[in-house]
Amino acid sequence: MSPQNEQGVRVVIGGTIDIECTINGEPVAVETEVRRSLSDVIRHEVGLTGTHLGCEHGVCGACTVLIDGKAVRSCLMLAAQADGADITTIEGLADGDEYHPVQQAMHDAMAFQCAFCSPGFILTTVALLDRKPDATGDEIKQELSGNLCRCTGYQSILDGAAKAVELMSETANPPGQPTADQASGERSDV
Ligand code: FES
Ligand code: FES
Repeated sequence: MSPQNEQGVRVVIGGTIDIECTINGEPVAVETEVRRSLSDVIRHEVGLTGTHLGCEHGVCGACTVLIDGKAVRSCLMLAAQADGADITTIEGLADGDEYHPVQQAMHDAMAFQCAFCSPGFILTTVALLDRKPDATGDEIKQELSGNLCRCTGYQSILDGAAKAVELMSETANPPGQPTADQASGERSDV
């Protein structure tokens, strides 16, 4: 463990640092160089190569992971900053053989071609729908505008994200089941 300054902040001058975090629900402990990015540690030291690197400048979004539920560009973050974090990569979304609804919706919409950009788009969509399950088309477009795709022209990805909203709503309110408003006697049309 590195020494701390008077404010309780860990002070690291150079060399290596020990990091402990959770990745996809598994505890991970690595010793890495202090200068390494989180994306490099995830790919090269933890071996999760689903996190892709496009620009390494924070522009393309391919390297997006979830940190404590928020979409973060892992090429712009030092691994040392992720000490203690709860990280989700694309490998952690599916439940066994069952896709996450956003993955399923993107698959159904044939959203991607080469799929190099797909981890970033999917995780960005997951973060959006976690905080706004009823996101509109404009809100989806706005949120995904920071991710770049070189193949599709984007419409199929936007269609996939819109399908994910539908799919997650159906999962939350299966046909024949009352919605939360109906169950509580609230009118949903007012
Ligand atoms: S590789 Fe991180 S934003 Fe492009
Ligand atoms: S599908 Fe090829 S970069 Fe997006």
